[in-house]
Amino acid sequence: MNALELLETSPVIPVIVIPDSALAVDLAHALVAGGICTLEITLRSSAALASIEAIRQHVPEALVGAGTVLDAQQLQSAHAAGAQFAVSPGLTEPLALAIRDRRIPFLPGVASASEAMRAAEWGFMAQKLFPAQAIGGVELLKAWQGPLPHLRFCPTGGIHAGNAAQYLALPNVRCVGGSWLTPAAAVAARQWGAITRLAREARTLAG
Ligand code: 3PG
Repeated sequence: MNALELLETSPVIPVIVIPDSALAVDLAHALVAGGICTLEITLRSSAALASIEAIRQHVPEALVGAGTVLDAQQLQSAHAAGAQFAVSPGLTEPLALAIRDRRIPFLPGVASASEAMRAAEWGFMAQKLFPAQAIGGVELLKAWQGPLPHLRFCPTGGIHAGNAAQYLALPNVRCVGGSWLTPAAAVAARQWGAITRLAREARTLAG
């Protein structure tokens, strides 16, 4: 699978912060039960790597990746834990070189035309637009269709059930990312039914 194919796996990629790896498998099952099988576990919590490992071991239906990958060391740890793809809020040269070595599907974060062009020079044609809402959102992506028609985006940042469909209707958008499927309070309280409902709702967004 390459990164463009990754974008086709789900209309919504949940951006997940797991406070405790003991929650990971149940949380993944809750999302998969709602039809969302592509999961981004951010490296923002110390439970992230163990969570990726646990999901790989116990939830084979899930495609699990690491988010908030900031450097080559984190990429290596995530890959060793079993991450099947990686996402970053940006792109640095050391990270681009590490991705090239490991051949793992990767979405670099971009927030300007120059960043998008630089990422494309490294071969990354599928990119994360971040933080999407704050930098122009749907209007920015429409404006990029003319000069950057070869790029495909997964916008994240400020996206929710109320505005995701507007993004998904754009020809240069293949999926969106967001944390709204896994609210921190619902995860901590193990409200798996509520999370499955949010996933089911998100699954229908692509039409
Ligand atoms: C990300 O890391 O992709 C974003 O922080 C997710 O943004 P959101 O919390 O606004 O969905």
